Amino acid sequence: MYYVGLDIGTSSVKALLVSEDGEVARSATPEYPFQTPRPMWAETDPEVWWKATRDAVRSLLEGIEPGEIAAVGLTGQMHGMVALDGKGEVLRPCIMWNDQRSFGECEEITRMVGESEVLRITGNPVLAGFTAPKILWLKKNEPELFSSIDKVVLPKDFIRWRLTAEFFTDVSDASGTSLLDVGARKWSQEMLDALEWPLRWLPEVTESTEATAKVSQAASESTGLPVGTPVIAGGGDQAAQAVGCGIVREGMVSATLGTSGVVFAQSDEYRVEPQGKLHAFCHAVPGKWHLMGVMLSAAGSFQWYKNQLGREEQAIEDNGGENAYDLLTAPAQDVPPGSEGLVFLPYLSGERTPHPDPHARGCFVGLSVRHEKRHLTRSVLEGVSFGLNDSLELMRGLGVSPEEIILSGGGTRSALWRQMLADVLSSRCSMVNAIEGAAYGAAVLAAVGCGAHPSVESACGKWIRKTESVEPGEQRGAYGKYYSIYRSLYPALKDAFKSISESSEG
Ligand code: XUL
Repeated sequence: MYYVGLDIGTSSVKALLVSEDGEVARSATPEYPFQTPRPMWAETDPEVWWKATRDAVRSLLEGIEPGEIAAVGLTGQMHGMVALDGKGEVLRPCIMWNDQRSFGECEEITRMVGESEVLRITGNPVLAGFTAPKILWLKKNEPELFSSIDKVVLPKDFIRWRLTAEFFTDVSDASGTSLLDVGARKWSQEMLDALEWPLRWLPEVTESTEATAKVSQAASESTGLPVGTPVIAGGGDQAAQAVGCGIVREGMVSATLGTSGVVFAQSDEYRVEPQGKLHAFCHAVPGKWHLMGVMLSAAGSFQWYKNQLGREEQAIEDNGGENAYDLLTAPAQDVPPGSEGLVFLPYLSGERTPHPDPHARGCFVGLSVRHEKRHLTRSVLEGVSFGLNDSLELMRGLGVSPEEIILSGGGTRSALWRQMLADVLSSRCSMVNAIEGAAYGAAVLAAVGCGAHPSVESACGKWIRKTESVEPGEQRGAYGKYYSIYRSLYPALKDAFKSISESSEG
């Protein structure tokens, strides 16, 4: 038997076929762009995801007997607002997690409900990435569409709707809407009442391992999945990513260097950072929670850097030579920690943790004629590592003190970056065999949801093992000074960032 894990990502759908012993038998990753109609906006037509899902599943199933698919598990980018009309048709492109247009609506909701009430109910402040402020934005800016809303769903739950003709979501994904009572793991009537939105707009919310619905006749015809295949609830991509790395017990911590950067700590209890600086969300492990810090541009900063300043390296790679990232990082290895006084702030898309500020911007601070490209490269990697340490420091303040951090995400391909993370985070950093991320976590949830494993913990125990570890090294001490400088820069530049952002939006 096989399990299918589907991750409805920002730039691609990742589909995995995972065997009973947890091996990845096949994968397909059709890509698509997202649109930025204005600065700091990000949108995608959900039908684009559905087409990519159909293509991915079809290619995954080629040559596989239909009866061999035991279950499908779903995950995806969190927070996106997919508004549907009474016929279940998409009303407008999804306003995505990395869209910052609704910061004014965040303030409005916070005023309506009260800052401490929002934190008490939802475990988090209302942030521009989250779903509720986007719905309010729609009300104010596209009132006709708002008045046609019949359902609001998250990206993976739109795909569930297309696969099963049923509406469900799970507690981990729902945690990022500002509409869930995160402690009680159910929709918050108080938030809905304050906003005057009906509960019927929202799908039923379940734990992540629930078998929510089954593949419909129409979806079977377009995907090749047999009618009646169970579709398991699944989770938001960060919770599923953590499951996919085995972060399923109290105190376990992971750090992910994807486009966004995430520090994730499982918690058996519901804990909230008093100022709401860390996300407090339900985990995809039933009855558990997690604390999470999210940087909006982590490996995304390095990708931007490579695209802008690594064209020569990219040309070498394109002509069959070495990987462009490796070509960029090799000379940066010999640059001392602190990049000889150059500090990079990775706020290229605004920031979330620890500075929930859509106006924050990226910068190199401390440039001098002495600096070469290799310094710039190193300072990008350092700035992102410092940003992750900001989240870890907040967790340490709540008593989370990991002896080990499990690393994942594209950025951890770099040995230089892995060692830097061990040094900056001051902790052993380990990798695991499961490197397929959230889609793999969705396959784990599928296997548990269809009864093949008694719990998420036991499935992870069987499928996931550590492969290599890096200990903090001799450069660990040298980073302390530069981390303090890094921390002093955002408060010093905050007002300038706001002026820059406002002036550039005309
Ligand atoms: C998590 C978050 C991102 C998106 C896209 O809070 O905003 O990780 O889910 O991956």
